[in-house]
Amino acid sequence: MSKLVTFAELKEHRTKDKLWILIHEKVYDVTKFIDEHPGGDEVILAEAARDATEAFEDVGHSDEARALLKDMLVGDFEKTDELKTKGPSTSFSNSTAVNNAVQQGSNAMYFVPLAVLGAYFAWRYYSSGSI
Ligand code: HEM
Repeated sequence: MSKLVTFAELKEHRTKDKLWILIHEKVYDVTKFIDEHPGGDEVILAEAARDATEAFEDVGHSDEARALLKDMLVGDFEKTDELKTKGPSTSFSNSTAVNNAVQQGSNAMYFVPLAVLGAYFAWRYYSSGSI
C-alpha cells in the first residue's frame, strides 16, 4: 500500500532542496530532478504546495516525461479543500493585465484616425460654407 501524503506534508516540501509536486492526485519528489528539468527549475518551483496537474498537462509533456514520474513517487495525495489550483502569484494573472493594456491600445488606434478624419470633414464643411 502506498503512503498517503497530507496537504501539510506537501507544504513542508516547497523549497529547492526539498521539493514535492502534486500531479493527478499523486505526490512526487522532484528534488533531484529539478536541475535536470528541460523546462527549467522555476516553472516547477512555481507549482510547489499546490496542484501542478494543469501546468504539467498544458505543456503537453511526452511519454518519456511521464515515465520519469514513477521513480519519483512519494505516495497518493489525501484530498483536501485547502488546495487551490490557481494562486495569485502565477504569471498567468500578469498576462491578463498585459492583454487588457493591448486591448486598450488597439481601441485608441481606431479612435485617433477617426477623430482626425471627422475634424477634417468638419473643417471642409465649415470652410466651404463661408465662401
Ligand atoms: C515532475 C514533473 C515533471 C517532469 C518529470 C517533467 C519532465 C519534462 C521533460 C522530460 C521535458 C522535455 C520535453 C518532454 O519530454 O516532454 C519537459 C519539458 C518542459 N516542462 Fe516539464 N516536467 C515536469 C513538470 C513540469 C511542470 C510542473 C511544469 C510547469 C509548467 C513544466 C514545464 C515544462 C516546460 C515549459 C517544458 C518545455 C521546455 C522546452 O521545450 O523549452 N514541467 N519536462
